[in-house]
Formats: sequence, structure tokens, C-alpha cells
Amino acid sequence: MDLLSLARTVKDRVEAPITDVLAVAKVVTDPRTPLLLALSTVVVTPLYRAAFLASASGSGVLRCLAVRPCDLDSLVEYLEVPDDRERLRVWLDTGVRLGELDVREGCYRLRSTMAKLLAQAGNDAVAAALEEIMRFHVPALLDAPRMLKEGRRFSLDDQDGTVIARSSLALQGMVHEAIDRHLERSAPVRLLEIGCGTGAYVRHAARLNPRLTALAVDLQREVALRAADNMAAWGLTDRVETRQGDLRALELQPQFDLVTLHNNIYYFPEDERVEMLARARSFLAPGGRLLLTSSCQGGGNAGLDVLNLWFEYADFGGPLPREDELVGQLEKAGFADVRAARIIPTQPFRAFVGTNVRA
Ligand SMILES: C[S@@+](CC[C@H](N)C(=O)[O-])C[C@H]1O[C@@H](n2cnc3c(N)ncnc32)[C@H](O)[C@@H]1O
Repeated sequence: MDLLSLARTVKDRVEAPITDVLAVAKVVTDPRTPLLLALSTVVVTPLYRAAFLASASGSGVLRCLAVRPCDLDSLVEYLEVPDDRERLRVWLDTGVRLGELDVREGCYRLRSTMAKLLAQAGNDAVAAALEEIMRFHVPALLDAPRMLKEGRRFSLDDQDGTVIARSSLALQGMVHEAIDRHLERSAPVRLLEIGCGTGAYVRHAARLNPRLTALAVDLQREVALRAADNMAAWGLTDRVETRQGDLRALELQPQFDLVTLHNNIYYFPEDERVEMLARARSFLAPGGRLLLTSSCQGGGNAGLDVLNLWFEYADFGGPLPREDELVGQLEKAGFADVRAARIIPTQPFRAFVGTNVRA
């Protein structure tokens, strides 16, 4: 029983001995009690709710309950946890007490507006962003000092590439706008997308230009496989080849009209960025262009600050770029006519373009 409920029940306990009342009074007048209550209400409960929603979403339980209310047995079957029925019930009942779920006549259903919204297919990127925050950002904040003491760094395996690929689509509006501004619409375009994630931006480009063909590459096998599945589902396999590959090891002829890198410049250490950008340029035909989009530092956005922290603590990659530094790096990598443009006035998101003038 927490202190607040204890205080509330005092008045109901007339049968209790007076010593009980005195003991309770001592506890509830403890000067730490208001702090504990404030901590619980303002900080901890929202954190618990966010964690519950992230795991309910990540496990598919939100989607499942959005289709229809389910009893415990159906959820045991859905999650394939036949030996852990009771433990699953404890987790679901915690969700009920947190106000995210409801249970009626033995059937669990979605209760909070947030749970209902996150369960909608159209909000998948936001649900994945919540999962990214809880699973990767929170540990970065929690463990940073200990990681420094232990000399420990995050590795790529500490991320779930498929969650990140989905969550990255929360920036879709801005990336689409950047593509809309820079993609040639009628002439045939040969596109190379590096770090394609779900492949959604190759799909957008292919829709804008019906004569576009592309090679979509992602470093992470699981991500590349999902992107290939998506291309098949979108009917694009005849125009788009999808592969697992690392920009640093790609062997390609200078055949592309456009090379794109969306939301992944910070997967490369700062001191390797010039070399990596020069490599991307080497795949461009003369006159071909690079389009790179990224959130940049200095936006006063807590989410980006923690993303930046994660990559500062990674054993690969580096901080989010600063606009002027990245422009300089693109120029050093041999790009001409380098420009950086804001997409939305208040957002620290930029589209960088540069041209390969060399043969
Ligand atoms: C944050 S995700 C962005 C995915 C997608 N571009 C988007 O904006 O939705 C970054 C992606 O870049 C990929 N990536 C990182 N380093 C790479 C490299 N060296 N070569 C190819 N892909 C890379 C990662 O595997 C990851 O899927």
C-alpha cells in the first residue's frame, strides 16, 4: 500500500487501535512524503505508462487488442508463452492499473486514448519512436556515467535496426519534402540509396519519377531483408534492387544520377565523414548529385539531444552534424555547389545537396 492510500484509509479504520492511528500519522507527516507523492505522480507514473505502452506496442499486444478484446488465453497463444500464463496476467493487470488497458468479463481491451492511437497502423512510426526512446534512449541516459567508468560503448547490436528503421519514418514529411525539391521528375534517374531502412524513401522517389530505377542498400541484414520484402509488397522489384551492404565496402561504377543518405550521417565517426562522403561521390556519374538529410545539433530538442548522446557513446558513429561542419566536409569530399537548406523554419532538420562535377 502506498503512503497516499494509507492516509486515505485512516479515516475508515475506526476499529483500529489508537496506536495504529498514531503510527500512520507519523508516517504521513514524514517530510519526505510530499516529495514521494510528487515524484510518483509527476515523474514515475508517466514513465511506467510510457514503458508499458512501448512494450505493449513492441510485442504486438496493442495491435491485437485494437482488433478485438482478448482473454488471457488468447494473449498467451498470441505471444506464444504457454508456460508463463500467470506472469503474463501480472503484466496485463499492471497495464490495467496504469490506466492503459481495461478488463471486463475476463477480456482485456485498450483503454487510454494513447494506447488506441499507438495501435493504429498509420501511427506505426510514432509507436516505434516510443519504443526507441524507452529501449535505447532511456538506457543511454541511465547508464552514461557507468559506461564511462567501465569504458563501455554502445555497439550497433545494442540497437534493433528494424525498430529504428520504422521510427525514422516519423521524419517522413520533411524527407519527402527534400526529395520533392531535388528529384528530377521526367528523365530516367538512376538512384543509389545508402542506409535505406524500410525503403520508404526509395518508394517515394519511384512514385515521383516512373522512369527511376534504384539500388537500395542497408548495412544491417535484417533491415535490408525487410526493405526487400517491402519492395516486393509495393510491386517495385523490377525497378529497385535491394541489398545488404556497407557504404565503406561497396564496389560500384560511377553510374548514379543521385545518391541519397537519409538520417544516417551520424552512423559514421566524424573523422571518417569526409572519406565516406567522397566514397558516395565516387558512385555518381559526372553531374550527379548527392542529397543528404539529417537532424542537426542545436535545435533545443530533448529527443535529438538524447539521440546525439547515444551516438556519442557508441563505438561506431558520432554526434549529430553541425550544419556548417557538414557543408565543409562535403566540400572537402569534392562536391561542388554545396548547399544546406532548412525544410521547416523551427526544425533543426536540413537537406544538404552537392554536385559531382568530376569525371
Ligand atoms: C536511422 S536509420 C534511417 C533509415 C532510413 N534512411 C530512414 O531515414 O528512414 C539509419 C540506417 O542507416 C544504415 N546504415 C548505417 N551505416 C551504414 C553503412 N555504412 N552502409 C549502409 N547503411 C548504413 C543503418 O543500418 C540504418 O538502417
